[in-house]
Amino acid sequence: MKRPSCYLSVVGSCLLFSCIQALVKLPENETIPALIAFGDSIVDTGNNNDLRTISKCDFPPYGKDFQGGVATGRFSNGKVPADIIAEELGIKELLPAYVGQALSSRDLVTGVCFASGGSGYDPMTSKLVSVLSLSDQIEYFKDYIMKLKLLVGENKTNFILAKGLFLVVAGSDDIANTYFTLRARKLQYDIPAYTDLMANSASDFLNELYELGARRVAVFGAPPIGCLPAQRTLAGGNARECAENFNQASQLFNKKLSAKLDSIKNSLPGSRMVFIDVYNPFLDLIQNPKKHGFEVVNEGCCGTGNLEVAVLCNAWTSTTCSNDSSHVFWDSYHPTERAYRVLVSLLVGKYVDKFF
Ligand SMILES: *[C@@H]1O[C@H](CO)[C@@H](O)[C@H](O)[C@H]1NC(C)=O
Ligand SMILES: *[C@@H]1O[C@H](CO)[C@@H](O)[C@H](O)[C@H]1NC(C)=O
Ligand SMILES: *[C@@H]1O[C@H](CO)[C@@H](O)[C@H](O)[C@H]1NC(C)=O
Repeated sequence: MKRPSCYLSVVGSCLLFSCIQALVKLPENETIPALIAFGDSIVDTGNNNDLRTISKCDFPPYGKDFQGGVATGRFSNGKVPADIIAEELGIKELLPAYVGQALSSRDLVTGVCFASGGSGYDPMTSKLVSVLSLSDQIEYFKDYIMKLKLLVGENKTNFILAKGLFLVVAGSDDIANTYFTLRARKLQYDIPAYTDLMANSASDFLNELYELGARRVAVFGAPPIGCLPAQRTLAGGNARECAENFNQASQLFNKKLSAKLDSIKNSLPGSRMVFIDVYNPFLDLIQNPKKHGFEVVNEGCCGTGNLEVAVLCNAWTSTTCSNDSSHVFWDSYHPTERAYRVLVSLLVGKYVDKFF
């Protein structure tokens, strides 16, 4: 059963033309009025565009299949999970980036994105590529809350924060970029100690979100990082297999993050902090691509195929495959919109009930 939903239900009326159809059924009388995203490039919708960083993609071929074919700073050929989740929940078509944008009132009340490609739980991760740390993202979030209060008042702001869904998607860049490539981190920590640091930082971050009013929080685990094309090239040998040491680090982090969530849930009354297992469905997609109509899993659609070590496509030298829908990966690190859609639809179906 489909039900229409829109931001105006917050103020008790719904203009039909501004509603989009939710693809999932929420429990009766329940609403998710807004979506708010934090983290890294998996959900960044353009917050890095004005930063001086190498971690940006506001140039073709990014956005090739986005509305109008424009490169908006989304790290894919089209929409990213932040947009797709907003769409599936019937909130809106796109989740706008908060930084550097003049947003409409409507966009503010239905949620925004603070995520920054290249960021992570380890504060060193965002520093390495000069992007927004999670604390920077919290500062923008505070600014957003102030604007919301001016716009709709204290009570409705609290309602939006308490009933809205928060996405927290980070950890990949800590493992892939910071731990395995930064000598200093490897000398200082072994993998068990480093994944502790990540999980502790995640826990601190979630406590801060709670203090600021968030209640429903979807916390995404790390994907099988060793199976990303860049990691296959770096550490997968001649056959470019999945790099096991990266995958083991992801799994260990996921175990710790999930345990942290179980324990903080009890200390934060009224919270619904849910660990989202991305690892297993993603690995299944990589191991059984044909099941979902994919042909190519071990290289990105844009780039130079097997030789690609760079994570992002290059505006000048990258070639682009003829059919990105048959590829799981768009570049050497980020899935295509179609792969994101397959994963998101599995995850939304599996987890949505846990937020009520
Ligand atoms: C939903 O709200 C309506 C109107 O307030 C009420 O009559 C109904 O019992 C509610 N349903 C549930 C399941 O709470
Ligand atoms: C705000 O909410 C509180 C508690 O729910 C309520 O008592 C109060 O009347 C509300 N204020 C306004 C202005 O709606
Ligand atoms: C592109 O790939 C998708 C998924 O494999 C397939 O369904 C579609 O027919 C392909 N399109 C073309 C033009 O080959």
